Amino acid sequence: MNQGEIKIDKEMLPEHIAIIMDGNGRWAKQRSRPRVFGHREGAKSVRKVVEAAARLGVKNLTLYAFSMENWNRPKQEVKTLMKLLVSALKNELPLMRKNNIRLNSIGHTHAMPGNVQNELKEVIAATSDNTGLILTLALSYGARQEIQHAIREISHKVKNNIISVENVDEDIINKHLYTQNLPDVDLLIRTSGEVRISNFLLWQIAYAELYFTDELWPDFTETSLHKAIADFQQRERRFGKTSEQIAK
Ligand code: FPP
Repeated sequence: MNQGEIKIDKEMLPEHIAIIMDGNGRWAKQRSRPRVFGHREGAKSVRKVVEAAARLGVKNLTLYAFSMENWNRPKQEVKTLMKLLVSALKNELPLMRKNNIRLNSIGHTHAMPGNVQNELKEVIAATSDNTGLILTLALSYGARQEIQHAIREISHKVKNNIISVENVDEDIINKHLYTQNLPDVDLLIRTSGEVRISNFLLWQIAYAELYFTDELWPDFTETSLHKAIADFQQRERRFGKTSEQIAK
């Protein structure tokens, strides 16, 4: 589709877009290449989509870069993914600066190799004053683990009389999730034709619009992002209310 045909209302952008970037392995397999070739190409899509989101004026973009479950992949593949992350963080700092992007991370990042943690810390610090798009990388992330972590923290505080049981509400839970400063997800995109959530942001997607596309992640472009946003803007978000109530 010609990009010019896709109409996006910039006043009605989703405030928070989250993406499950899937299909790198299949993209490589279709070309009889090793899986890591697909990941490398996938990293190029990350760059394009991040720039496109920043250009549009999207405020929050969260990418599922490495799940808890991904640790079970062959050692060599995990190693390559970590290498790709380090080089992306090193190489993309100028792009983040140029586009006023602030980097953030969620997940059990302490489980990541030391060089990934260091690079991450550096880029997060170097971009902390930027006021544009907040780019959050989910690394060693699992939603159930995140919820478990929040429940533990809250339980400790209740036990030590820092908060009372009656005060445990949605707001308190939000504040104890890794995403504590981010708004709920408005639009969740998953590529590659899989129609699953795979332990991603379970709490935060309660009212998200879900968008599934058959495109494999390395094929996902700026135009694909625009299509997803245009689709989102066609939907009526009722949050449990009736259409009539929304119209008022
Ligand atoms: C899924 O494809 C993708 C991942 C496991 C991780 C995503 C990683 C990247 C896009 C590369 C680097 C990331 C950044 C942030 C620079 P898959 O391997 O599950 O594909 P398959 O389902 O076809 O096997």
